[in-house]
Amino acid sequence: MIESKYKKAIGLILKCNPDNIFLYWKGRVALYAILKAMGIKKDDEIILPAFTCVVVPNAIIYLSAKPVYVDISPDTFNMEVNRIEEAITSKTKVIICQNTFGLSSNVEEIIRIAKKHNLFTIEDCTHGFGGTYNGKPNGSYCDAAFYSTQWNKPFSTGIGGFSLINKSELIVKVKQLEQEKIQPSFLEQLALVSLLIFNRYFINKFTYWSLVRLYRFLSKRNLIIGSNQGDELSDIKMPQKYFKNISSIQARMGIRELKKLASFKKLRGKNASAYTQFLKENHKVYVNNNLFDNHLFLKYPVLVTNRDLFLKLAEKENISIGDWFLSPIHPIKEKFELWKLNRDHFPVAKIISTKIVNLPTDIDDNRKVLDFIKTHIDMIESDF
Ligand SMILES: Cc1ncc(COP(=O)(O)O)c(C=O)c1O
Repeated sequence: MIESKYKKAIGLILKCNPDNIFLYWKGRVALYAILKAMGIKKDDEIILPAFTCVVVPNAIIYLSAKPVYVDISPDTFNMEVNRIEEAITSKTKVIICQNTFGLSSNVEEIIRIAKKHNLFTIEDCTHGFGGTYNGKPNGSYCDAAFYSTQWNKPFSTGIGGFSLINKSELIVKVKQLEQEKIQPSFLEQLALVSLLIFNRYFINKFTYWSLVRLYRFLSKRNLIIGSNQGDELSDIKMPQKYFKNISSIQARMGIRELKKLASFKKLRGKNASAYTQFLKENHKVYVNNNLFDNHLFLKYPVLVTNRDLFLKLAEKENISIGDWFLSPIHPIKEKFELWKLNRDHFPVAKIISTKIVNLPTDIDDNRKVLDFIKTHIDMIESDF
């Protein structure tokens, strides 16, 4: 079966038993399954970074549990480990750490804290598949990890996701949940194939910005299969048919795309080093690649003084600079209380989410991006 072939291919990269990998329609669904397998229920508290995608707290809220945010460190854009313990209460059940932009969290320290308080750990590796931490693939250390294969991820199947379960008692429970997965409908699969074809033949540097805007507009209104369904961004109600299985189209595409992962990883590293060198020479904020051993560098984060203007200028020159995370729970801009978030409690995340942009790392020629940041060097922050 194509799904088991896909699991085998993923297992080779994660250096794990393919039977411990579980496939889903999206990464967020994998997280939901992990939390469900952990027995998360009403009023349980789940710790997560105050710098993530809103679908992460959504998965927690769909189980009637409470997201408890922790501010981030400006070095890695991941949770400030020294602030985790103050967020732990008698209701805490899980700590979720993240690979923001591919940068690792201080996973060992997080696991030490979790063990001390008898908590589960989950690594959100949606940005970090293919990267390593202390010599092992991202996702190897926590009780479970989840990954995304949505557009812009380390490898893409349009939309898609999977989990790696490292704790045997959880494997049994995740296996039981397999029977509850809804199969994608014929129409959903057809829509996905159309998007993949469109993406392959029509997206280029000239059409990128207008098509991204059109895609976001249509998916917000549920007019096409989007990364987010409209109601995931405006409400905390679980969308219908959320707990969905992967389709064979995604599995087939995943097998094909995985073959390119190693060369892309090399390219990402090369571009990230060039950006680091340039920013360092110009005394601007840069990612210190000595922090952990082998980042994936899905994107290269940069802090700017006027983000709207910076993005507008990039668009004019057809440079695909990204806008994650424009809020601590991207892309939410209002009604934060629905997601139990008071941004004033997380000053680092609050400031960074007003200044951050990301440079592309998967491009063959970085000269245009380097020229662009050189021209607009005054807009790049020298300090956090
Ligand atoms: C940090 C983070 N976690 C989780 C997800 C969810 O992944 P998916 O879109 O596959 O559900 C995303 C999506 O982009 C993300 O950026």
